[in-house]
Order: sequence, then C-alpha cells, then structure tokens
Amino acid sequence: MSAARGSAVLLLRGALAHVPRDPWAEGAAALEAWDDGCLAIGADGRVAAVGDWADVRARFPGAVVDDRRGALVLPGLVDAHVHYPQVGVMGSMGLGLLAWLAERTLPHEARFVDAPFARAEARTFLRLLARNGTTSALVFGAHFAVAMEAFFHEAEASGLRIAAGLCVADHGLRPELRVTPELAYESSRFLARRWHGRGRLRYAVTPRFSLSSTPELLAACAAVAADVPGVLITSHLNETPDEIAGVLAAFPGAADYLATYEAAGLVGRGSVFAHDLHPSEGELERLAAAGAAVAHCPSSNQALGSGLFPLRGHREHGVRVALGTDLGAGTDPSLLHEASAAYLGQQLLGDAGVVLSPVHLLHLATAAGASAIGLGEEVGDLRPGRWADVVVLRPPPGSTLAAVWAHADGVADLLGPALMLAREEAVESTWVAGKSVWDARGGRDARGVDEAAPGPAPA
Ligand code: GUN
Ligand code: ZN
Repeated sequence: MSAARGSAVLLLRGALAHVPRDPWAEGAAALEAWDDGCLAIGADGRVAAVGDWADVRARFPGAVVDDRRGALVLPGLVDAHVHYPQVGVMGSMGLGLLAWLAERTLPHEARFVDAPFARAEARTFLRLLARNGTTSALVFGAHFAVAMEAFFHEAEASGLRIAAGLCVADHGLRPELRVTPELAYESSRFLARRWHGRGRLRYAVTPRFSLSSTPELLAACAAVAADVPGVLITSHLNETPDEIAGVLAAFPGAADYLATYEAAGLVGRGSVFAHDLHPSEGELERLAAAGAAVAHCPSSNQALGSGLFPLRGHREHGVRVALGTDLGAGTDPSLLHEASAAYLGQQLLGDAGVVLSPVHLLHLATAAGASAIGLGEEVGDLRPGRWADVVVLRPPPGSTLAAVWAHADGVADLLGPALMLAREEAVESTWVAGKSVWDARGGRDARGVDEAAPGPAPA
C-alpha cells in the first residue's frame, strides 16, 4: 500500500499541525498549523513543502491529491521507551515494579526463547506501534538472541524506524534470563554489527537495569558501544525507591544510581534512560552535562505506583526529555494516551508540576522524541527535507472525539481533544517516508497483512 506514487509529488490535504520550534522557548508560537493544510511529499519520501492548501497546491499544479479533509495530520509519533516482549502482560494490576517483574513479566519474557513465538509476538508488537501512529521507536528487546534476530527481521518488514537491542542481565533475574558478561558482549556485538544501520534499523545496547547487572556486564555493554559506532544505549534509572536502594546496596562504591552507568561509560548523548522519577540534583546536573535523554513514561509510573515525574527539575537542569509508553507496564501503546497521562501527572504535582499545553505535549510526542533517539535531523516535524512520517487522525463517526471536534474552531482546537481522546480507533493512516505502514481503511500493515491474521496461541 504505497502512499507516494511514481515520480510525482503527492499532496496530502487536511488539517495539519506540527511543532518545528522549541515550545519551552517560544510557547504557543512554536506550533505551526493550518485548518486547510497541505503536505507535499516528494517521490523520495521526504517533505517537499508544507503550508496552506491553496499555496502548496499552486506550487505543484499537476500533483496527485490525497484528500483527507475532516482528519488531522500530525508528524509520526516517536516512542522513546517501549518493550517488545511485554504485549502479553499489559493490564496487569496491583503490583509494584519489583513484584511485577518477578511474578508477572519476567516469566512471560522467558517464553521468548522460542523463536517462532518471538517472531509472531514481534509482528504483533510492530503492528500495534503502526496502528497507534508510532513511526519511530527505541525498543527494549528480549533476553534471547534468537528473539532479537526474529524481531529485527520483522522490524525491517514493518517499514518503521526502529532502534532496538538484546536485553542483557547477569544476576538478580530468573536464571534463564541471565548471561555471562562475555556472552552478553559477543551476542550484542554480533546483532549490532548485523543490524545497525540496515535500512531504518539501528542497534541499542540494552542492559536491563543496574539491579540485574554486575560492573562487568555494564563494562561489556560499553565495549559493544565502543566497537559499533553510532549505536544507542538504553536502560532504566531511578524508577522506584526499593529499586534504587537495591542498586545502592549492590554497588557500594556508587554515590547514586546514575554513577553505576557512568562508571562503565554508558552515559552520553546517545543514551536514553527510562523513568528517572527520583533523581538527585547531582544526577540531573550530570545527565544534562552528558547530553543524555530521559524517557518519561507516565502511564507506567501511575500503573506501578512508581511516582510522579519531576519534569520541572529536568527542565531546569536542561535534561532532554521525551515520552515513552513503556508498554507493558504502560497501559496503552498510544503516544497520544501517554501525552495525556503526562499532562494529568503534572497537574497532580500542583505548584511543583509543569502545566503542559497541547503544543508542549505534541512536541514531546514527536520532535523531542526524535531528538532523544538520534533522529532529530530526520523526523519529528514536517519541515521540508524531513522524511514524510505522518499519522492521520480521523475520529470514528459517533465517537466521543468526533462529538468534541464538532465544536472546534480551527485546528489548534483539535489538538487537546486529540491528545485526550484519540486512540488506535482514530488512526486512519500511518506513513513512514511517504509510504503506508498502517491503513485502517484496508485494515492492513506495511506487509499487506490483514489485521485479523491469527496471533500466537495463549500459553
Ligand atoms: N526495570 C527493569 N526492567 C523493567 C521493565 O521491564 N519495566 C519497567 N517499567 N522497569 C524495569
Ligand atoms: Zn521499561
């Protein structure tokens, strides 16, 4: 299902909004939006022009038109932290992080040793991203190389921009999920060399967290990053008080949690740490100085009772922040849902929180995410030259969102309700580089596979 065609330019017409400037510096003026807008997409899959329909149309008189009036076109959403092997544990309730891992999640993740199961789950997971409007993601992997090999094959076929890596641990977790530092190094380096930079895929070195790592395992991860230039590094940081206490007990020489990663050389501009709910001032200063990013995952934080995110502190220290769904602790694969959870969480903090506008939230779910995962020059907004990664939102007839949008006075009024109410049912199309990766009208993903295709049998 190709959205772009032949050598011609495609004009995508609809209400259009993106945040090409920094809303923290410019406020609402960071938003660019058109009630009757147009995105011109070149045959190369990049944005050729963006603006008012009449203006763009005049520049490309013979171009093919895809008329989506009534829909809202946004940049493709960017998920900075999401777990591939956790689809099956979404919606587990009543447990804090460490119990949720031990009792619910890690037993499920152990099943990914089975390559056909892992491959089917990878396909399901990637389809969920596309049908929720996510076009780029930093994906936390499974603990088995066979599962990651299957995942990368499926990721390549999905058309999405995916960075991912083998999740590694050498203590603390159930035995079948542990490896030696030597094996972690060999397997990760093999996968990184094989997949990093292939098409839209990149590798992310992925120690699960310091609580399941020895210093030797973290050093092995750093060695992989040194061997394969340009890979990302991702892990978890400062998620819950009991987790933090466990890390400090296991690393008696470390001043704080971040220091365990710093000692191994894992904190830099290519590093993305999920959560950071309970940082010290010093950690915030050092994260900012290193240029590392934090993936804020509010629905997970609320579901596990991990805490409320100190966004103000991160902003004041200049730490780069993006959004992650953290599926399966997170409660929905939708970045729009995650943005609404971020808004609600900050409201609960009162004076200690940040009142987030729809413009801030759209920025967090798009351009900030792209920057955090190293794609800031490629995607995240719809300026000419960017890849034409887009999501088209159209509320189902009779839905709550349709009823709210009926009262909107212009495109800016569509945004808040879209963030609060648009979920996968409202995603009409998802495109990467001008090509369809999900189209609800045909119920098909990039591979042309019908959404009703059977998934794996339950355990
Ligand atoms: N810390 C270590 N592993 C995980 C995980 O799978 N989910 C979350 N939320 N935190 C973690
Ligand atoms: Zn996570």
